[in-house]
Amino acid sequence: MERNDTYMPMETKVVKITDEAPGIKTFRLEFVRERDRKKFDFLPGQLAQFSLMGVGEAAFSMCSSPDKKYIEISVRNVGNVTSAMFGLVKGDTIGVRGPYGRGFPLSEIKGKNVVIVAGGIGFPPLASAMEYMTKNREDYGRIWLVYGVKEVDDLIYSKRMEKWADAGRVEIIQTVEKGCTAWDGCVGMVTQQVKKLKIKPEQTVGLSCGPPVMLKFVSHEMQALGIDADDIHLSMERMMQCGIGKCGHCNIGDKYVCRDGPVFTLYELRLMQEDVW
Ligand SMILES: Cc1cc2nc3c(=O)[nH]c(=O)nc-3n(C[C@H](O)[C@H](O)[C@H](O)COP(=O)(O)OP(=O)(O)OC[C@H]3O[C@@H](n4cnc5c(N)ncnc54)[C@H](O)[C@@H]3O)c2cc1C
Ligand code: FES
Repeated sequence: MERNDTYMPMETKVVKITDEAPGIKTFRLEFVRERDRKKFDFLPGQLAQFSLMGVGEAAFSMCSSPDKKYIEISVRNVGNVTSAMFGLVKGDTIGVRGPYGRGFPLSEIKGKNVVIVAGGIGFPPLASAMEYMTKNREDYGRIWLVYGVKEVDDLIYSKRMEKWADAGRVEIIQTVEKGCTAWDGCVGMVTQQVKKLKIKPEQTVGLSCGPPVMLKFVSHEMQALGIDADDIHLSMERMMQCGIGKCGHCNIGDKYVCRDGPVFTLYELRLMQEDVW
C-alpha cells in the first residue's frame, strides 16, 4: 500500500545558529537522510513548514542559496514555535515539509536589471534570491538592493552584503527609520530610496518582501519609476496551516498564498484585491 506522507516532516539537525540581531536568529539545518536533501529542491521565495515535536509548525522562507547541501532560515521570535526554536542548540531536531508555493521568477527575469526592496524580516527570501543572482552574475543586469529596518540594531546579513557587493554591478542601500549617532547611512523609509533610483524601467523588474503597508507603497514607487505591474513581484504573508492549498487558511480572494504564492505580481494582486492595490 502506498504511504501518504503529505504532512510527514523530514528530519533535519541544527548544525549552526547565528545571532543576527535582537530577536532574530539564523538556523542552518542539514537533512538527516540524503534522499530528503535531494527531494528538497527549492526556488528562492518558496516557503516550507518547520516543526518542533510537541510544539507545532510555522512557515518560513529559506534565506540560503538553493544549491547548498544545507538550508538556512532566519527567524524572528514572535510566538509559540519561534520562541521554542530560540531554545534549540546544535544537534537538536527540526522537522521540515515542503518546499511549497511559487517563488521569485529568477529564470524568467534573466537578462533584466533587478530592483530588490526588503523590509525587516521580509529580507530572508530576497537574501536567497541575492545569493542565487550573485552566484550566476552574468545572467542578470544591474542589481539594486534597498533594505530598510526600524533601528540600526535590527540590521542583519552585513557579511553577506559585503560578498554580494563584491559580485559587481550591485548597489546596496540600507536605511533605518530611526537614526542615531553611530549611523551615518540613510534615514527614512525604503520608499524614499526607491524614488531616487535611476533605472531603465523597460529593462527592469522589481522584487519585494516586507510588511503589507510597505509592499503597497513600494509597489506604487516601482510603478512611478515606470516598471510594469506584471514585472513587480511581491511576496505575501498569511497565517498558514496545511501549506498545500487544502485548509483554506491563507486565502487572498480566490487564491491561496501557500499554493498560488507567496509571490504574486502586482497585476495579479490587483485582480485579487482591487480595493487594496
Ligand atoms: C510565506 C511566508 C514566509 C515567512 N517567512 C518568514 C521568515 O523567513 N522569518 C520569520 O521570522 N517569519 C517568517 N514568516 C512568518 C512566520 O510564519 C510567523 O511569524 C509564524 O506565525 C511564527 O510562528 P509562531 O508559532 O512562533 O507564532 P504564533 O504563535 O503563531 O504567533 C505569531 C503572531 O501571530 C499572531 N497570530 C497567531 N495566530 C493568528 C491568527 N490565526 N490570525 C492572526 N494572527 C495570529 C500572534 O498573536 C503573534 O503575534 C513567514 C510567513 C509566511 C506565510
Ligand atoms: S495554509 Fe492551508 S490552504 Fe494555505
